[in-house]
Amino acid sequence: MTSPEGARTLLEVKDIGKTYGSVIALRDVSTVVRAGEVTCVLGDNGAGKSTLIKILAGVHQHDRGSLLSEGREIRFSSPREALDHGIATVYQDLAVVPLMSVWRNFFLGSEPTVGFGPFRFLDRRKGRSVTREALAGMGIDLRDVEQPVGTLSGGERQCVAIARAVHFGAKVLILDEPTAALGVKQAGVVLKYVARARDRGLGVVLITHNPHHAYPVGDRFLLLKRGRALGCHRKADISLAELTRQMAGGAELEAPAHELRGDAG
Ligand SMILES: Nc1ncnc2c1ncn2[C@@H]1O[C@H](COP(=O)(O)OP(=O)(O)O)[C@@H](O)[C@H]1O
Ligand SMILES: [Mg+2]
Repeated sequence: MTSPEGARTLLEVKDIGKTYGSVIALRDVSTVVRAGEVTCVLGDNGAGKSTLIKILAGVHQHDRGSLLSEGREIRFSSPREALDHGIATVYQDLAVVPLMSVWRNFFLGSEPTVGFGPFRFLDRRKGRSVTREALAGMGIDLRDVEQPVGTLSGGERQCVAIARAVHFGAKVLILDEPTAALGVKQAGVVLKYVARARDRGLGVVLITHNPHHAYPVGDRFLLLKRGRALGCHRKADISLAELTRQMAGGAELEAPAHELRGDAG
């Protein structure tokens, strides 16, 4: 399946809904994820962003609507299943072992070995060189891949996680608020690697509540508010100013802005 622009559609979300008990976390949400494009999911706390990506990542199941992977309807029963479909997710609280070296974290569970049977050993040399090359291939220069992951900055950890997904052949890369806890400079670096992953042909889903982070790298912007989609716009159809305005709740913001200026009346 290809779009009019020629990009392959990797995931399609159609009128998806999800309730937790009596809480409607998502309702009638639709969007697409295409190869070589970035789909941004924007919204305030409680908008349903994490719920949506947990459905894509196999953590939760939708109870309405449908999810299509390369044109076929699917329903993941576990994160493992989503991963087998090439959907890699990087959570905000990265599942890394802080005392473990960067390269061990890079492989985590799929380390290269030498020998076989009871004579199998971790191939440290290979592990280190593969990690270094994969990071360098993404333009990430880490002096020492033997250093504990805990010594990396938040931004560097996100970058390593992105390089890892690219290296292990992910088709879809989901990033849940990768820039939320970062300063301006580090956020810029992470966004650069988001763009790199996109340029490698991955379909990226970028969750953020910051339109200034989403706009420069995004191709499509899905705005969520209290579980509903306010709209899904292609970049050509929405300006940063309009996106920011919609994010802020449009008219709702005008009253406080007016009060903040200290205008009379
Ligand atoms: N596991 C859960 N059980 C019950 N309610 C939940 C659960 N996860 C999320 N919610 C509720 O669903 C709504 C959407 O949450 P969430 O998807 O985490 O939003 P966001 O990531 O945009 O902040 C919120 O009202 C939240 O309280
Ligand atoms: Mg969230």
